[in-house]
Amino acid sequence: MIPANDFERQWRDIESDALAAFRKVGESGWYILGNEVRDFEAALAAYWGIPHVAGVASGLDAIELSLRILGCQSGDSVLTTPLSAFATTLAILKLGAVPVFVDIDGHGLLNLDRCRDLLWRRPDIRFFVPVHLYGHALDVAALRRMREEFNVHIVEDCAQSIGAHFRSEATGTAGQFAATSFYPTKNLGALGDGGAILTGNAEWHAQALALRDYGQSAKYRHEVVGYNSRLDEVHAAVLRHAMLPRLGRWIERRRAIAQRYLAGIRHAEVRCAGSPEGSESSWHLFPVLVTAARKAAFVEYLKTAGVMPSGHYPVIIPDQPVMAHAAFEFADDCQQARSFAASEVSLPIHPYLTDDEVAKVIEVINAWK
Ligand SMILES: Cc1ncc(COP(=O)(O)O)c(C=O)c1O
Repeated sequence: MIPANDFERQWRDIESDALAAFRKVGESGWYILGNEVRDFEAALAAYWGIPHVAGVASGLDAIELSLRILGCQSGDSVLTTPLSAFATTLAILKLGAVPVFVDIDGHGLLNLDRCRDLLWRRPDIRFFVPVHLYGHALDVAALRRMREEFNVHIVEDCAQSIGAHFRSEATGTAGQFAATSFYPTKNLGALGDGGAILTGNAEWHAQALALRDYGQSAKYRHEVVGYNSRLDEVHAAVLRHAMLPRLGRWIERRRAIAQRYLAGIRHAEVRCAGSPEGSESSWHLFPVLVTAARKAAFVEYLKTAGVMPSGHYPVIIPDQPVMAHAAFEFADDCQQARSFAASEVSLPIHPYLTDDEVAKVIEVINAWK
């Protein structure tokens, strides 16, 4: 079976660097908020080109804490996408804020023209969480223009977009904050949970450092009601010494696989969702679309033929059962998001796929009857 992700191959590759990183932390005797977290934060800031990074416990927390620093609170409306990991909306709900869902484009990303129209009509919307989904980049300059024109606070959800650019501008550089995740399947994944808050603002960065650590601004000085949301030293060490040095190669490999899929998949019923014009994608995922009526048969066929598909995401966020108990708004009918969700199947695109496996995935799809 060609798996959706291959952690066995990844471990064989990173094993000696990861074990050395564990040893370093063990020998230091310092497990929480020490040199490894600091060094990794500095290395990630340099890689991304955003001055300040605070490591936190998850991508979910990274979004929630960023919104909170920007003043988002109970009852505030937050513009966001109906098609994402549930965590994007969960971060908003945890603050008591109200997600406002706008429909997507043909690639599965927020429709920024509709977002613009909504911000124009609704000056009460002061917060915006756009998601650079699938490793594609939304138009970074357009986001920046919205931030300036509408004075809206933007937290870019970059959980899937590390390494992605839009016309040479890195995702995460338009908003007041970028939030990312080190969930193991991510392009930069840890051996467990983790996340980071990135910002150009030193004062907000200081607030993030305090919030993640019980709201302490200095040892035993608690100025705000904070969280325990610290990135562990072991995760930071593994990210810094085993994962980050490989990230460039991994993204190149994902890009090469995406190009082969785009060139090779030729089937009347299977359409590659592709990447938006201008996006230099990091190809966290590779979604294809089949008609909703044929999706289950396609998924079964792939599994029988030895290819493990996955799905991102089968049900849009506002249609999740828990949303029946939550306050939210539809800014439009979100019909495109619903039909995308009903049709989407993700192909394996992890960087340890061999050329033969990529060829097999293409051959299997093209032979589907
Ligand atoms: C787009 C998106 N946002 C947020 C998250 C949340 O990240 P985490 O799982 O680290 O909380 C994820 C990852 O699952 C994600 O894919």
